[in-house]
Amino acid sequence: MDIVLIGCGGHGKVVLDAVRQEGRHRVVGFLDADPATHGTTVHDVPVLGGPNLLDKMAARKVRGVIVAIGDNRTRFGYASEAEAAGLELVSAVHPRAVIAPSATLGRNVVVAAGAVVSVDASVGDGSIINTGAIVDHECIVGRHVHIAPGVRLAGRVAVGDFAFVGLGAMVIQCLTIGERATVGAGAMVRTDVGPGITVVGVPARPILRSV
Ligand SMILES: CC(C)(COP(=O)(O)OP(=O)(O)OC[C@H]1O[C@@H](n2cnc3c(N)ncnc32)[C@H](O)[C@@H]1OP(=O)(O)O)[C@@H](O)C(=O)NCCC(=O)NCCS
Repeated sequence: MDIVLIGCGGHGKVVLDAVRQEGRHRVVGFLDADPATHGTTVHDVPVLGGPNLLDKMAARKVRGVIVAIGDNRTRFGYASEAEAAGLELVSAVHPRAVIAPSATLGRNVVVAAGAVVSVDASVGDGSIINTGAIVDHECIVGRHVHIAPGVRLAGRVAVGDFAFVGLGAMVIQCLTIGERATVGAGAMVRTDVGPGITVVGVPARPILRSV
């Protein structure tokens, strides 16, 4: 199917690469909120204009969309707008990601190169499992979550909706990362993280601010 990607930045390129290598859909354009990108091309794909053009995509025979933006709330917002415009939210799974047959992926999920979603794990709608991240056995990753490159979630970790786990962080087994929580890059999480809490460091401790 012909699709557009919302967001032509670094993550947009990662998603474009995954879609091309997967070979199921054809990316015919990017939409991006930054007017400076309009009329340019990214890896030979034109940036057609802003996300305000979503309503006009059907006329171009575009049927699907992936929101290629790392920020969870922004991604969710554009996904809602795309659905309202009648577009299908599709997924991209890089062929060199490893997805166990017993794992389940929701709608509009991106799994980047080298990521592993292990046995009996699940990933909710709109979530990103980024480059080289490991989601080990029986993890439950909620909706609109971002698991950044190189993260390691041990078995049976639960990650709440809209949570962000930063670059290279580790979470030991059976813990819960609450909804909207943030785990800083490089953290080592060894106790549950409450909803909306930001933790950093080794071992991870809260910084007194939620995002
Ligand atoms: C955790 C994070 C979100 C906090 O960002 P922030 O709210 O802007 O926080 P600040 O930069 O103001 O830092 C607040 C304090 O936490 C510390 N801190 C921030 N991030 C940290 C980290 N990853 N590890 C250890 N300490 C960290 C800062 O040194 C600062 O400490 P201080 O108050 O003693 O000076 C951010 O630093 C981070 O790690 N982001 C993840 C980036 C990432 O994974 N990118 C990949 C994208 S695909």
